[in-house]
Order: sequence, then C-alpha cells, then structure tokens
Amino acid sequence: MFFRRPNVPEQMDAALVSSFDSPDGLQVVPTAVGKPGPGEVLVRMAYAPIHPADLVSLRGRYGAVAPLPFVPGLEGSGTVIRSGGGLAGRALVGRRVAVLAFSTAQGTWAPYLVVPASHCVPLSSGVSLARGATLLINPLTAMGLLEPELHAHRSVLVTVAAGALGRMILAWGQHNGLHMIGCVHREAQREALKKSGHAEIFNAAAPEFPAQLRILCRRYQIHCALDATGGPLVGQLLSHLEEPGRVVVYGLLSRESAPLPGFPIIFRDVAVSGFWLQRWWAGRSLIERLRRAVTIQMKPEIFDSPVQAKVPLASIREAIGLAVRNRSEGKVLLRLDPELDDTE
Ligand SMILES: NC(=O)c1ccc[n+]([C@@H]2O[C@H](COP(=O)([O-])OP(=O)(O)OC[C@H]3O[C@@H](n4cnc5c(N)ncnc54)[C@H](OP(=O)(O)O)[C@@H]3O)[C@@H](O)[C@H]2O)c1
Repeated sequence: MFFRRPNVPEQMDAALVSSFDSPDGLQVVPTAVGKPGPGEVLVRMAYAPIHPADLVSLRGRYGAVAPLPFVPGLEGSGTVIRSGGGLAGRALVGRRVAVLAFSTAQGTWAPYLVVPASHCVPLSSGVSLARGATLLINPLTAMGLLEPELHAHRSVLVTVAAGALGRMILAWGQHNGLHMIGCVHREAQREALKKSGHAEIFNAAAPEFPAQLRILCRRYQIHCALDATGGPLVGQLLSHLEEPGRVVVYGLLSRESAPLPGFPIIFRDVAVSGFWLQRWWAGRSLIERLRRAVTIQMKPEIFDSPVQAKVPLASIREAIGLAVRNRSEGKVLLRLDPELDDTE
C-alpha cells in the first residue's frame, strides 16, 4: 500500500517536566522534534494514557526517571511516519502502532516520538488508535504477574482488584483456569465488581477483613498474593498466606508506610518480591513480544481498559486532575493529534 509521507515540523508543543517541586514544573511548551537514527522510527502520536506510574514520574519518584527537563509518558499509540534505517523500522512505516517509551530519551506525551522499532507493536485493522494507547503496559503486566502461577492451578489473591489492571488480572487469571480472589478498599467497588460477575471480592478496609483473610487463605489454599498497595496489607498477607507463600508487590498505592514484619518473615516460609514490567519486558524475545501483543488484541473482553475521557494535550492539567480524582472510572487519554476524530 502506498504511504504518503507527511511533512514533519522542526518543533512541536509537548508536555515537559522541568522541575519536581514546583506546581508549574509540568508545562506544554515548544520542543524539538527528534530525528530517528538507525533502528529507530518517528511516530506521529495519536493518544497516550495517564497511568499512575506517569503521575509518580512527574514527582521524580519512578524507577527510571530521565534527567530534567524531560517529556513524560510511558505508552501510547500513533502512526510510524519515518524510519531511521533497518529492516524492522522500514517495515513499520505507514503502520498504526502501540508504542512503549521504556528507557527512551523522550516520553509519549508529545505529538511526535522517536523510539526503537522494537518498542512498537503493529495494531490489527479492527483495533482503534484509542484502544491501542493502553494495549501494552497493563495487559503485559497482568500476563507477567500471573505467568508463574499458570501451571500451578492454584488460588491467587489480588489486593487492588478495582481499577484497570486489577480487573485485567482477575479476568486473565480466570481465563487461564486460576481461582481468583479480589480485594478492594471501598464498598462501592466491591459491589461494582460483584455486579460484573466476579464472585469473590472482599473489602480490605472493612473491620472484619483481617479475620476473613485468615479463613480465606486456609479455605482456598492461597499461596500467592499480588499486591499494588505496598502498605500494611503486605504484612497481613505474610502472616496468613499458606506456606510456602509469596507476596509480589507491583504498586505502591497505599499512602501508609509499612515496616517489614519480621515475625512471619523469620518464622514462616513466606517471601516478598517485586515485579516491574520494564525489567520483565527486557527479558522477552522479539517473537514473544509480538505473540503477546497478538493475544492481547484478540481478547478485548479481558484486556481493554475503559476510557473515561479524551483530553487535548493543551489541557494537560485538567486531564491530570481527572486521572487523579476518578481513578476507578477508567483511563484518561491525552489527545496528541488535534485532527483525529473521536472514533479513531
Ligand atoms: N510494576 C509494574 O510494572 C506495573 C505496571 C503497571 C501498573 N502498575 C501499578 O499497578 C497499579 C494499578 O494500576 P492501574 O493502571 O490499574 O491504576 P488505575 O486504573 O488508576 O486504578 C487504581 C485503582 O486502585 C484503587 N486503589 C487506590 N488505592 C488503593 C488502596 N490503598 N487499596 C486498594 N485499592 C486502591 C483505586 O481506587 P480509588 O478509585 O478508590 O482510588 C483504583 O480503583 C498502580 O500502582 C500502577 O503503578 C505497576
């Protein structure tokens, strides 16, 4: 198919973090458009989500923070419009893609992005650019977290079951024959998840929860818990999981600090480990990355994230406000190309 090369400007208006301390540390300002080198491509960006990890990176608290000033944003979607050379890059020109900005000089909250061709995944014809914007980080995390459990056919407890990723973990686990048990921290979330067909959802903020947790772990022989609170719940899990037990922490949503509970760690056969998608992804071959991306696109009922709003990049503060206030309402997408219509 013939692809008409669009003109590329020298400058673009991109989100730029210039300070971690000031309320004006994030601004949309003129920034140079990069030129792809060998093995890289230039993507005309369409949408990028605001993930919890993006919000953390704005405060300089993420696992990989670029030197100031930097364009934030970990994933997004768009169309490859230039290749800097190399077979993979040339094959992508003209293709709509989902992109990961892992360890790249620039993030996705910008109209143009230079990334290695290996960070792009072509979108199937039925997948919209809006859907493509959240196609990688949360779905791949759900897959990576559950991978060690898939052959064990056991019960798995997920501490943050509401929200985009929590719902995906429950659904991917159930799809693979695991017995999934979810926790939330508000009664309304418990009711909403039960209404959408998840049988076993518990409110970890309820006074009866600690006693419930002990009974649940025994009754369902729960050896593994996936935790995105990073708070005191981790200690409760270490005390009650069946042995050998393992808590995998992949998020820090709890605002409370949690001292490591020495007693269960010394006297029980339990352990805590962490999961970070960037590390997991780096260990996957190109073939495996593509295979996973195909699976994700074929299973929208499991891996699609609800979207609560599409907001132009120029209104970034409003977009961040929405993403912080209504975390359970779905992802906020930044619209990076003003010419897109809402159906794309
Ligand atoms: N390690 C990795 O590689 C990796 C990869 C992807 C995501 N993550 C992490 O996974 C977590 C979830 O991501 P997401 O995209 O699903 O976020 P999201 O769509 O913003 O949803 C977050 C959900 O967590 C709930 N929540 C907040 N604090 C909680 C607490 N203390 N206990 C229980 N639930 C709580 C929120 O409920 P409210 O509406 O009540 O606030 C909301 O439903 C984030 O921490 C993210 O950074 C980690």
